[in-house]
Amino acid sequence: MISSCTAENCRNSSKSYIPLSPHPNPRRHLELQLTLLSFTSLEHRTLSQVSMASYLITGASRGFGLALVRELISHPTSKVGTVFAATRSDSSVLNELAQKSSGRVIVVKLDVTDRGSIKKAAAEVESKLEGKGLDVLINNAGICQYAFEGIKTMETLEESFAINVMGVHWVIQAFLPLVQKGAQKKVVNVSTTLGSTTMAPGNSYFPAPAYKISKAAANALTAQYAVEYEKEGFSFTALCPGWMKTEMGGGDVAELAPEESAKASLEIIFAEGQKYNGQLRKIFVKGWENFKGRNVYDGAIAPW
Ligand SMILES: NC(=O)c1ccc[n+]([C@@H]2O[C@H](COP(=O)([O-])OP(=O)(O)OC[C@H]3O[C@@H](n4cnc5c(N)ncnc54)[C@H](OP(=O)(O)O)[C@@H]3O)[C@@H](O)[C@H]2O)c1
Repeated sequence: MISSCTAENCRNSSKSYIPLSPHPNPRRHLELQLTLLSFTSLEHRTLSQVSMASYLITGASRGFGLALVRELISHPTSKVGTVFAATRSDSSVLNELAQKSSGRVIVVKLDVTDRGSIKKAAAEVESKLEGKGLDVLINNAGICQYAFEGIKTMETLEESFAINVMGVHWVIQAFLPLVQKGAQKKVVNVSTTLGSTTMAPGNSYFPAPAYKISKAAANALTAQYAVEYEKEGFSFTALCPGWMKTEMGGGDVAELAPEESAKASLEIIFAEGQKYNGQLRKIFVKGWENFKGRNVYDGAIAPW
């Protein structure tokens, strides 16, 4: 029974946000109150689907993965909730970031070549999510190996595949049930235009065949997942973050600070729904969209 309904007690009620003036007819008042409750709980559900999203990033110890963690938590908590920073190695920079994040960044141990470690990480993330799903999975961990004497001297293909292809597949496989429960159902596989088979002739200057071949295979993996899971509302995207000043990118000789790439990548990662499903997508960076050099960061689709 509602004996007195004032704007104040409506405002303080746990479910109702909109103050409702008392109606002289108690029955009518109750009806109005119930309508309001169902409206606000619907609003709640819709909001929780788009806000406070959870993320998991592999290879978060340094480079682009670490920059993504930093960029994500620069967004308000209403948009980005928990960020699971999965790392193989101990990283003091990442640990410090997590310590200062008021619980938003949770460091999780994960080696993408070790299925036991992936399963353990998935169980840990599941328990931390307390029944909720994981909204966005970002497969970023990667390795780039060279064969300076040419492709026939390449001895690293197996290791490159273990990390850049099998690692991505095992991580997706282990986290898929959690992503399925998530509101966004997004998987982003960090790729590169060096993995584009169409662009291979133009990329011949770069002597890393195992990297190119494994990234091409990871692109094919992305495309296959995208086709199979599209009906279920998933989005699988292969994202090209550009040439970055990381250990892999060779430091200062590269073009983009990892933070700059991370910011531009979030434009793609935050995109609504399935906009980028099944695509190999480049980032957009203002000032680089018409660059006359090798790399053009114009936000376009790159050919497989
Ligand atoms: N740098 C570029 O210019 C560039 C361009 C295009 C695409 N990408 C892609 O961007 C991603 C990140 O590259 P980056 O430049 O940040 O490279 P990076 O500085 O060399 O960092 C690589 C990350 O991957 C992790 N990693 C490697 N093997 C792993 C394993 N078995 N399990 C878990 N983590 C592992 C490393 O962890 P540890 O600290 O434990 O070694 C590190 O966190 C890669 O997928 C790369 O292909 C980079």
